[in-house]
Amino acid sequence: MSTLKSILHETRVFPPNEKFVKQANLSGIQAYHNLYAEAERDLPAFWDKLARENIIWHKPFTRVLDESHHPFFRWFDDGELNVSFNCLDRHLATQPDKIAIIFEADDGKVTTATYRDLHKRVCQFANGLKSLGISKGDRVIIYMPMSIEAVVAMQACARIGATHSVVFGGFSAKSLHERITDAGAVAVITADEQHRGGKINHLKSAVDEALAMGGTGSVKSVVVYKRGQGNLALQVPRDVWWHELIKDQSDSCEPEWVNAEHPLFTLYTSGSTGKPKGVQHSSAGYLLGAIMSMQWVFDYKPTDVFWCTADVGWVTGHSYVTYGPLAVGATQVVFEGVPTFPDAGRFWKLIQDHKVTTFYTAPTAIRSLIKFGADLPGKYDLSSLRLLGSVGEPINPEAWMWYYTVVGKSRCPVVDTWWQTETGSHMIAPTPGAISLKPGSCTLPLPGIMAAIVDEAGHDVPDGKGGFLVIKRPFPSQARTLWGDPERFKKTYFPDELGGKYYLAGDSANRDLDGYFWIMGRIDDVLNVSGHRLGTMEIESALVASPLVAEAAVVGKPDEIKGEAIVAFVVLKGARPQGEDAHATVIELRNWVSGEIGPIARPDEIRFGDNLPKTRSGKIMRRLLRTLARGEEITQDVSTLENPAILEQLKQPVA
Ligand code: WTA
Repeated sequence: MSTLKSILHETRVFPPNEKFVKQANLSGIQAYHNLYAEAERDLPAFWDKLARENIIWHKPFTRVLDESHHPFFRWFDDGELNVSFNCLDRHLATQPDKIAIIFEADDGKVTTATYRDLHKRVCQFANGLKSLGISKGDRVIIYMPMSIEAVVAMQACARIGATHSVVFGGFSAKSLHERITDAGAVAVITADEQHRGGKINHLKSAVDEALAMGGTGSVKSVVVYKRGQGNLALQVPRDVWWHELIKDQSDSCEPEWVNAEHPLFTLYTSGSTGKPKGVQHSSAGYLLGAIMSMQWVFDYKPTDVFWCTADVGWVTGHSYVTYGPLAVGATQVVFEGVPTFPDAGRFWKLIQDHKVTTFYTAPTAIRSLIKFGADLPGKYDLSSLRLLGSVGEPINPEAWMWYYTVVGKSRCPVVDTWWQTETGSHMIAPTPGAISLKPGSCTLPLPGIMAAIVDEAGHDVPDGKGGFLVIKRPFPSQARTLWGDPERFKKTYFPDELGGKYYLAGDSANRDLDGYFWIMGRIDDVLNVSGHRLGTMEIESALVASPLVAEAAVVGKPDEIKGEAIVAFVVLKGARPQGEDAHATVIELRNWVSGEIGPIARPDEIRFGDNLPKTRSGKIMRRLLRTLARGEEITQDVSTLENPAILEQLKQPVA
């Protein structure tokens, strides 16, 4: 991969500037080392103090960490709290009129909500949910566009102790169905429409389709927020308009006090098998991770205007839209649209218009904007910025430098944050007033995060050698289990091969001689396409579900903008198509996958063969397919290959 080559030669170092260091929450490298050492000396005592200082407890905890059911750790487990209380009520006495959310719609229309407003709206909606009979422990699916209402829906679930599971609005009815049934959800919260880049996506009709697929008897209610014209027929009594539901509801709602370990949410993510897994998070530990990373990594200040561009359908949108910024009392921007509509200056215009100080986005967005040249951001006033962040995939040093110099004018630190759905909050990322930056490295682990690199047997490898990224000790924000599948949780993240002790992240990484981490990529069959995780098996299952397809294998290939592109090798049930016919089949299959999973999973390339390259025992030789996908010559040993002639057929993409 070009990224790999370039980071291996990367030597530039950017120490924090003096002005930034002076005002930083964690100021100077010694402060970082001291804090890290404090956590190393006594991990429970370290988190104990932070949990007491940063969370408002209804009933304070007396136990910090319970490791007796390893790896099902429990944190603060006799404490009680409410996450929504910690995000909203706590600010009512001190800053009720501060703007919590500046919402900008796809068409540019701006609306705002203060902390007082947001609190009222959450309470009203929470009461609405209660009136539908939804209560503590129930699962609620949220399938919504980016909006203040999406945040309200999540916070309202948290307020009544219902466990939300947000499904990204770009997922298909079929993916939605899979998640609804796995969660056994009692309700779905959705909208008539989603507006992105001038296009309209009909969310409610996808919900109808999903609920018609059967096995969804648990769903008693569908709440529909009217984003568009509301031209749709409700299925009464199942469906109810959001505005009707809240009409007569009181705007105060006593929070449901829950145990620290109460599941705040599950979020489905891709793994090595065809079935997405429901990553389950706690209440208190998760919240603490979100708060500490806001302080340490984003160096949060009350005067900040924070903007994380992620959709609430991903974990980044959970921790750095719905929970982290509100818990610390920030003003944040929530944006409905896309970076290139109405033109590629949209992000820069938003930063200018709302005086954003902290901007957090994905490398794929940066790379797609680099294409339009440095002049474009130059046309906007970006002087409000003081900190830039990156998340979701490795950022190549070229993109890092562009972000740093063109967007940040070499004034703003770039925090490259490595973490995952399963870790809940940042794990390895610079504390920007302390740590010197190296483009392409997520730098050093946060205090309390015992990250390391090990070999196949779980032994430490020497710096510079590379291996599996693990976290050796528990941390509060880590996933507690996989919904309904604790066995899979254990097998996936604490595998026996590594001694079962450490959290295995699923990434390979290298630590350099300065102790800096460089993430290399996934060690499993998970692709990272535009910062989104997709399992190759999931896409393969979708393909073979098509009546046309006999067999399919999916691999990734490096892509300049998306990081990785999806290449599918397909054997059809009928004859291998040629010319026009092949072209039409490619289009048909791409749309098919889009319908099965969602547009993000649509293969970039499809190639047809009479068979796939297999060993004599019938195993598909994926490494050969990866070489073919990259358009490279095969230099590997193919002597175990049953059918070498197939390689010739699979060499060329369909024109
Ligand atoms: C990748 C997103 C390199 C990694 C928060 C990880 C990264 C997966 C970075 C998790 C980064 C995320 N540098 N790689 N800064 N951040 N990744 O669950 O492979 O959607 O395992 O969480 O994205 O993706 P997820």
